[in-house]
Amino acid sequence: MREVLTNPSAGYYMNRDVFGQKGDFITSPEISQMFGELIAIWLINEWTKCGRPKPLQIAELGPGRGTLMSDILRVFSKFKISDVSIGLVEVSPYLSQVQEKQFCITSNQETNERNVPKDALHYKESKSLYGSPVRWYNHVADLPRAFTLYLAHEFFDALPVHKLIKTEQGWREVLIDINRTDSTLRYVLSRDRTPACLYRLENEIRKEIEVSPQSLVTLQLMAARIHQDGGVGLVIDYGYEGDKTDTFRGFKNHQLHDPLVDPGTADLTADVDFAALKWAATHPRTGDDWKANLTFGTVDQKDFLTRMGIDVRLKQLLAAARTEELARDLKTAHQMLTDPAEMGSKFKFLALYPAVMKKILDRHPPPGFSLDV
Ligand SMILES: C[S@@+](CC[C@H](N)C(=O)[O-])C[C@H]1O[C@@H](n2cnc3c(N)ncnc32)[C@H](O)[C@@H]1O
Repeated sequence: MREVLTNPSAGYYMNRDVFGQKGDFITSPEISQMFGELIAIWLINEWTKCGRPKPLQIAELGPGRGTLMSDILRVFSKFKISDVSIGLVEVSPYLSQVQEKQFCITSNQETNERNVPKDALHYKESKSLYGSPVRWYNHVADLPRAFTLYLAHEFFDALPVHKLIKTEQGWREVLIDINRTDSTLRYVLSRDRTPACLYRLENEIRKEIEVSPQSLVTLQLMAARIHQDGGVGLVIDYGYEGDKTDTFRGFKNHQLHDPLVDPGTADLTADVDFAALKWAATHPRTGDDWKANLTFGTVDQKDFLTRMGIDVRLKQLLAAARTEELARDLKTAHQMLTDPAEMGSKFKFLALYPAVMKKILDRHPPPGFSLDV
């Protein structure tokens, strides 16, 4: 999965735009500006709750076309918050260019790469339309240490999973092999235990599971930073809480696609196990210097967006819509984002806070996550 998605020369994400009607799938920020605007309001609210610490960094993991960040920066500027730096964790050089065009003043890939000091941890830098410094990183660990609002929308579903199956001999891993007769790819079961079979499986009652060590390590890193430097995390993705078994699949032209056919031409994805992410946010590894984060959620996208006021925002936009067609598009977008039969209940929201905020959060729980806000 890692090779197919992010191999530097042939990886699916590395050299093309895969989003939208002409691509393979569409994501919530691409559907409507309402999505990013409400997330921006949420971020400003939670930053304010923390006492508006400075310097402020917004870090987005896997920004895609940069649409979500573009909507967020526009809202921040409306609230006159421009003193903020942007850190983008993006493995794809092609998509980093698309993001730059979306919300930066300059979009000169070569110049922006050449200006980066040799020993820097980022690979490219630019300036947003509102004057904020924007830097691109390969890993979360490379982000500067500062109070940070972390955002990961449809990022964790792109990180590789291992598939494990319980056999009479114990846990075995599903591997991928080449059919000698026709050189096609096929699934095989490992003869013995593999390192992935060392995952926490003692109390596992399912017979088949998917585990994503890279997701857990990434989330632990984010949780450690939130504890040590201050910050808030918002993870949004399609997923479940510890109960699904087989969700690995491919997508091409908005249709399901066999992951073993023409690898590199289709998106590969697996539902995110939010129970595992919450475990990672609350379990520092031995010797790590951080305390369990407070976690909120998951809540369904429909509930989060409704509680954050998407219906009011729709009304405002409808009142300003100049054509019937625009009004119809807005209503369709609202339905796609919130209808449980579409994206409303498939997508989940999880929030992370440092333990030190417990008293404040008891009095003022995160908006969108409970009814009483
Ligand atoms: C499914 S797209 C989501 C894009 C965007 N957040 C959205 O919702 O429209 C996944 C994004 O994560 C990036 N990505 C995938 N694997 C990554 C990795 N290991 N490290 C950093 N970025 C990665 C992809 O290049 C892409 O920008």
